[in-house]
Amino acid sequence: MAEVKKIVAVNASPRTGWNTDRLVREAEKGAQDIGCETHYFNLYKLEQYTGCRSCFGCMLEGHEGHCVVKDGLTPVLDAIRESDGLIIGTPNYFSEPTAAFRALFERLVFQYLTYERERVSSSTRKIPVLFIMTSNAPLHYYDRAGYTEIIDRVCGPIETHIGPVTRLIASDTLQVNDYSRYKWTYFDAEHKKERHEKVFPQDLLQANETAKRLFG
Ligand SMILES: Cc1cc2nc3c(=O)[nH]c(=O)nc-3n(C[C@H](O)[C@H](O)[C@H](O)COP(=O)(O)O)c2cc1C
Repeated sequence: MAEVKKIVAVNASPRTGWNTDRLVREAEKGAQDIGCETHYFNLYKLEQYTGCRSCFGCMLEGHEGHCVVKDGLTPVLDAIRESDGLIIGTPNYFSEPTAAFRALFERLVFQYLTYERERVSSSTRKIPVLFIMTSNAPLHYYDRAGYTEIIDRVCGPIETHIGPVTRLIASDTLQVNDYSRYKWTYFDAEHKKERHEKVFPQDLLQANETAKRLFG
């Protein structure tokens, strides 16, 4: 009998139950629907942690592929190392993934990176990765505002050290339930609401179906 695949789902948004989290959860559900075992982490609910501390412990013999720092991110890094697939979602904060995403990214990737001419990575197996980003900005803004390039810079090292990345962008998201409480003249509340009701469900469906395709 084939072994049950283990999929790690990571929410790098501080808002539980909002856009990013719902997409991560839906992708996780897609994986569960096809029989995968999943493990969900909310990066904002972990014990204290930091990004890479540049201790180079992971580059010492016997430790390669293992971040030697022990903190709140350790269970996440361990789970990803043992997994057959990764779902990771982040909102766009000032054109970039969140600080929490960044901390995990630094620790996750650097533990596999080598400074050897002969090989760039110590990782011996690759797993499919679903990278989800949500943003206020609409999709057509991504190239113009440099978002695509920033995502490339994140996804490149993930491809090298973790595995092939599939991107899912959910853009022009609903940021709050009641826009009338804020003086946000920049946004058309009706448009945001309509988009949330009509387009966001399609994004959720895409998250579910992409997970099924990637982890099946
Ligand atoms: C600190 C902060 C910075 C943000 N910067 C951007 C930005 O540069 N571009 C953008 O399109 N949206 C930006 N947003 C909006 C979020 O990316 C968007 O609302 C996202 O869908 C929120 O995800 P969530 O619903 O999972 O919290 C920002 C939001 C916050 C709180």
